[in-house]
Amino acid sequence: MSLHMEQEIVLEAKALTKRFTLSSRQMKERKLLSNSLMAVDGLSFNLKKGSIYALLGPNGAGKTTTLRMVATLLSPTSGEILYRGKDIHQDVSDYRKKVGFLTSELKLDDFFTPDYTFDYMAALYGLSKEETAKRKKEVFERFGVTPFALTSIKNLSTGMKQKVSLAISIAHDPEIIIYDEPTNGLDILASRDVEDFLAALREEGKAIVISTHIFSLVEKLADEIGIILNGKMALEGNMKDVTKDKNLETVFFDLIGGVKQ
Ligand SMILES: Nc1ncnc2c1ncn2[C@@H]1O[C@H](COP(=O)(O)OP(=O)(O)OP(=O)(O)O)[C@@H](O)[C@H]1O
Ligand SMILES: [Mg+2]
Repeated sequence: MSLHMEQEIVLEAKALTKRFTLSSRQMKERKLLSNSLMAVDGLSFNLKKGSIYALLGPNGAGKTTTLRMVATLLSPTSGEILYRGKDIHQDVSDYRKKVGFLTSELKLDDFFTPDYTFDYMAALYGLSKEETAKRKKEVFERFGVTPFALTSIKNLSTGMKQKVSLAISIAHDPEIIIYDEPTNGLDILASRDVEDFLAALREEGKAIVISTHIFSLVEKLADEIGIILNGKMALEGNMKDVTKDKNLETVFFDLIGGVKQ
């Protein structure tokens, strides 16, 4: 984030909660006595233009659930999500055009090619044929996908699949970027490409939120961080204010050490 840049708030999540109702089998598996699970419990945070917000937290803390709500794949039990001051549920289809989402749960279809998948997604986003062709050329070049555009996805390496997913996630040039563990499963070279890409998106003025378990990624890239424990915001703020003179890993372990998971 450049210091001179206006810290314009693009998205506000306000007191978000998500309660899942568990089946009796899920209750048994998890050894729970109640069928109600508060996965996200009153989370608030803001995403700003040209800024990267990193969500951290142990497995099961509620990161993916939060990001799925912000991406409208899951509706909150309570709370609000405002895009430029307006509730996103007032016009979901318009909001979705503003959002690029990526999660390891969303798999590309093995039997299609990157070329076909891009066209398909671009059509969903309402891009014209001309826009689609222009944008595809741009983003495929950017990620080195062009030589593999007509190869079945099943024959691509993990890193190349991730690049195809990234390329497709920005097909419609979204203003808000929501990436759940974007470097999951990638080697250090491919991870570095993703880091560079995130930094470039920030320079382009995107409002970005990522979840990750990789401290070095957060230390290098995040402008703000939120550490979630048991669905609640345990620590939040500007990266420098949160870490002070400590490293992020120490801050994280000090925090989770004091909270029973
Ligand atoms: N569809 C669902 N039904 C029931 N419980 C769910 C559902 N989805 C998530 N949960 C539960 O909600 C809690 C939060 O899960 P979530 O996937 O958001 O965590 P996370 O922080 O992304 O974890 P990880 O680091 O492992 O990805 C967990 O207890 C999880 O088991
Ligand atoms: Mg997750």
